[in-house]
Amino acid sequence: MNSPHHQDIEWDASGPHREREARLHAPALTQTMDWLRDLLRTNGGGHTPIHRILDIGSGPGVVTCLLAHAFPDAEIIAADRSPDILERVRSRAEAQGMADRVHTQLMEHPGEFDSLGSADLIWSRHGVRHIGDQEAALHSLAASLRHGGLLAVAESGLPPRFLPRDIGMGRPGLQARLDAAAEDAFAEMRDRLPGSAQTVEDWPTMLARAGLIPSGTRSFFTDLPSPLGMSAREYLHTRLSRLRDRLGDRLDPEDRATLECLMDRDAHTGILGRPDAFYLAAATVHTARSCRTGVQPRLSIPTGG
Ligand SMILES: C[S@@+](CC[C@H](N)C(=O)[O-])C[C@H]1O[C@@H](n2cnc3c(N)ncnc32)[C@H](O)[C@@H]1O
Repeated sequence: MNSPHHQDIEWDASGPHREREARLHAPALTQTMDWLRDLLRTNGGGHTPIHRILDIGSGPGVVTCLLAHAFPDAEIIAADRSPDILERVRSRAEAQGMADRVHTQLMEHPGEFDSLGSADLIWSRHGVRHIGDQEAALHSLAASLRHGGLLAVAESGLPPRFLPRDIGMGRPGLQARLDAAAEDAFAEMRDRLPGSAQTVEDWPTMLARAGLIPSGTRSFFTDLPSPLGMSAREYLHTRLSRLRDRLGDRLDPEDRATLECLMDRDAHTGILGRPDAFYLAAATVHTARSCRTGVQPRLSIPTGG
């Protein structure tokens, strides 16, 4: 059921949903790209040309194409384990007239980053979390950075909220319970990944342990107040139905019934019709630079106390 092959089928099927999600976050992602450009520009006080960018676990390429817009002189390599997802990247790049600069690479084995070549910027949004040994992945990505280059991982933040605490049906606090169930399911998914290794997910420290110099962490907000537009509502409808499929067994019958009501396309209490639905999310991006000297910094990792 949860073999790598099964996961590929899931990723392929989730392509349109991922596209909608990334489009919803596009303004925040564009702000993120502006920040990364500033970080790279101020690196060493001069202008560092960005020739090559890797997007690790690119998904269908909405963010890959935003990267291509933000860095118009760069070649972008979208790397993903799903061939169908990479096909979507190529179609999108073609449609946006960027097929000459946006290339794809299939990652057949987790963590085989050496084959991607070196880069000035390595970006990964919700990609490293799907690799069993996240620390080893960061080490390997750090080794692919050119001197002065930047590794940026968007791996933490806050889960989206889109409903009031009390929605007038079921027990108040549904979203908090969905988040808790999603955390448990995520932890089990991570346990099943090949080479799964536990680590304290302190991203700046992990980046430092990979031999990089942390260069800043920032959070970017997507804040869409009610009433939501139809495209955001459709995204939430799919999100809820995916949550029901993934987490249904972990929820009590009352919460499952409430989820069904929220997915009713015709009811005014459904997510498509409710006036109180909003969308608020925070994405945190951690960055670190490669050492210009090539000397690995000595780091003392706090052990507590
Ligand atoms: C949550 S999606 C994120 C997509 C994209 N980065 C975005 O921001 O929309 C995770 C992606 O990582 C890919 N993936 C999962 N495990 C991978 C691995 N070991 N190597 C490369 N890609 C992987 C999946 O196929 C999927 O497209």
